[in-house]
Amino acid sequence: MTPTPGRARSGKINVLLIGGGGREHALALKLAQSPRLGTLYATHPENPGIAALSTPVDVPVSIREIYRLQQFIAKKDISLVVIGPEDPLNEGYADKLADEHTMVFGPVRQAAQLEGDKAWAKHMMKAASIPTAEARVFTDHAQAVEYVRSRQQPPVVKAAGLAKGKGVIVPATVDEAVDAVGRMMLKREFGDAGLKVVIEERLAGPEVSVLAIVDGKSLLVLPPCQDHKRLLDGDKGPNTGGMGAFCPTTTLSEATMAQIEGEVLVPIIDALRREGIEYRGVLYAGLMLTHAGPKVLEFNTRFGDPECQPLMARLRSDLIDLLVATCSGTLDQIEVAWDARPACCVVLASEGYPDKPKTGVPIMGLEEAAAMPDVQVLHAGTRRAPNGQIVTAGGRVLSVTALGDTMEEARKRAYAACDTIVFAGKQFRSDIGLKGG
Ligand code: AMP
Ligand code: GLY
Repeated sequence: MTPTPGRARSGKINVLLIGGGGREHALALKLAQSPRLGTLYATHPENPGIAALSTPVDVPVSIREIYRLQQFIAKKDISLVVIGPEDPLNEGYADKLADEHTMVFGPVRQAAQLEGDKAWAKHMMKAASIPTAEARVFTDHAQAVEYVRSRQQPPVVKAAGLAKGKGVIVPATVDEAVDAVGRMMLKREFGDAGLKVVIEERLAGPEVSVLAIVDGKSLLVLPPCQDHKRLLDGDKGPNTGGMGAFCPTTTLSEATMAQIEGEVLVPIIDALRREGIEYRGVLYAGLMLTHAGPKVLEFNTRFGDPECQPLMARLRSDLIDLLVATCSGTLDQIEVAWDARPACCVVLASEGYPDKPKTGVPIMGLEEAAAMPDVQVLHAGTRRAPNGQIVTAGGRVLSVTALGDTMEEARKRAYAACDTIVFAGKQFRSDIGLKGG
């Protein structure tokens, strides 16, 4: 483990935030609230929400020229790097940026494979006897098709690599499953990510997201969340990156949470350690609560987007203290406090999302919405046009997050803010937080 720079354990520090979505805007807001923050530097100042809170990194950011970022970190005396998204984790940013002066919140490349290679993740889960769907891995198209045809029920087809949360197809028929295999392995719709596929048994039950912060040895389980992956109300329509989330979910009893910690989170960290991999950062288990108990659908090695937004809205403790403790292996020495009030986050998406999101559409009402009590308007796919107008610039445009004394109140506040924000083609689900809040 990298030694913690002495000065960084307490006192003010400069922080670099990598990533530019709604999740990172939520992290930036919490970092900016910390009395310990010196300067916040950001790799994605094109996100207007992040730009308002940070100083832009003025060197190119890429793994091939990582020395430029290393030099920037040294020059600006940055003690803590926070990596939001999966791509830089899988490219090995954490490996390259951590040294005796700089801590990195986010796992090293090998550990990030838990998300970046679903085939390896399955292998690790099997080795650790972690409850998950039965699965087979294929690199040969004909063999994959033969296997699909041999199944009674249409299985779920997953691209093994990173596919921006879209590499999972849940087919209704065996023929559709065969087609899904072809789309991944022959048509290469997901690029290299789909050359290897995981074909797994289809599970049924409510889905929950259980995230933990891991400091190499101890683990802090965060309040459970629920995401909404499908585009339309009632979990209809295509899969998306996530249309909204709430926290906590009442779907999980304390006993089930303990079971997930003991049967999923602790065993996977132990299994990684047996491979010589120390995990530091967020470990996210996407689970289905089946009749036979909770089963893992996937691991992510970062905060969920949008789960991070309600989590950060509820976090009362200092985020810098929490991240520094994680990086220095002292998580067991700090107390983490949560707002007792639930939080609900509704994603406003652009017209055409998820296939062809329309960009450049002017957005009105942002300030009015942000001024509403206990509401945060987090920027994800937005840009500031040359005339100063905020416009759409991606699929998921904004994460509108609200706290309330009850989930119903949090929902009402979030939706009132959503109604205040106006842009042509605005899409959102109206049922976030309705079940399980
Ligand atoms: P993932 O990216 O692995 O979480 O998959 C995206 C979505 O596909 C999940 O949120 C589930 O709704 C669905 N899914 C994934 N694996 C399965 C499975 N084995 N059975 C049923 N649905 C699944
Ligand atoms: N909310 C799901 C994800 O971040 O992958």
